[in-house]
Amino acid sequence: MTPSNLSPADQQRLDELYERLRACSARNVGYPTNQAFDYSELFRFLQFSINNVGDPFHRTNYRLNTMEFEREVLTDFARFTRAPDGEWWGYVTSGGTEGNMYGLYVARELFPDGICYFSEDTHYSVAKVLRLQHTRNIMIKSQPDGQMDYADLRETLRIHRDVPPILFANIGTTMKGAVDDLSKIRAILDDLAIPNAYIHADAALSGMILPFVDNPQPWNFADGADSISISGHKMLGSPVPCGVVIARKAHVDRIARSIEYIGALDTTIAGSRSAFSPLLLWHRLRTLGDAGLRNMVQACLGNAEYAVEQLCAQGIESWRHPNSVTVVFPKPPPSMMEKWIIAPRKNIGHLIVMPHVTRDIIDDFVADFAAALQPEKQNPSP
Ligand SMILES: Cc1ncc(COP(=O)(O)O)c(C=O)c1O
Repeated sequence: MTPSNLSPADQQRLDELYERLRACSARNVGYPTNQAFDYSELFRFLQFSINNVGDPFHRTNYRLNTMEFEREVLTDFARFTRAPDGEWWGYVTSGGTEGNMYGLYVARELFPDGICYFSEDTHYSVAKVLRLQHTRNIMIKSQPDGQMDYADLRETLRIHRDVPPILFANIGTTMKGAVDDLSKIRAILDDLAIPNAYIHADAALSGMILPFVDNPQPWNFADGADSISISGHKMLGSPVPCGVVIARKAHVDRIARSIEYIGALDTTIAGSRSAFSPLLLWHRLRTLGDAGLRNMVQACLGNAEYAVEQLCAQGIESWRHPNSVTVVFPKPPPSMMEKWIIAPRKNIGHLIVMPHVTRDIIDDFVADFAAALQPEKQNPSP
């Protein structure tokens, strides 16, 4: 290693940051980021200025790339999402948001006058993307459990039957882990005789859960999706945010443009793209394998159920959807926020049981939650 030119004060700042991150990592129980991984085998690749600019399936002038590995990652994700053989395309994105943006961009190019429908429980970034693209949109009511209200969807589509719909489906909502049922959405479209529609599936977290359970809710290409976005840093885990988007190839072909400067097809949203994150995803997929991924997911689901039981045993009303690692409960008292990294919204909070959230951590969390609900016991009045 080259000797550091950092001043002792700057060195110390890095040391402090390292300690702070190390301490926070295990307490991060409210956001869906897996903290349990080891990528040290890949550190040597940080010495290259690698870049996956352009379409991963075409040659590019910039040869310091990892596109061969990117294509292998995409092939795995195409399999997980049941994409039709030889009829899909995709790329490794900067995260779930870019994948959603890509899906909505393709949809808008196919249906320039289309209206996008999304539920109240949709991730906040989607409204921003729709504003950026000037896509007309209508928010659909949610059911109390976080799923789209299908009756409201049907009624709203019925009123706008002459305009092609772009359905934005949540495959695991941010707060409640609810899955919008693609078969119900497709049935409504068929019932209303709407032939032209586009369905984008936002599977940020659950896109890496549902392929590894026995009875998944309808969510993938076989169930009628036109594009799917999945985050890489969530269930798989990665030190840098990343994700994958897969879309039906016929849709993508309509928007590809060839750019001479990079000698590649301009099919992606970002120009320069990380060449390191495809390596991280590839490493994770290869080291775990399908069996390892299934074990990881099943362990999290088992621990999520354990968390529900332990919270309920303390009188804290908690629940989760089938196939979900998101455990929902009433918003915890403010004192819980000091120790635990949790994300409350309105009157609820949640524990997202990722691989680093062990039963010991759950026990600790439940004990703190129970104690925080009894302030008089903690601070007896004099
Ligand atoms: C349902 C859902 N969609 C999209 C996103 C955005 O994903 P990313 O943070 O990878 O951009 C999130 C993030 O939590 C999410 O929960």
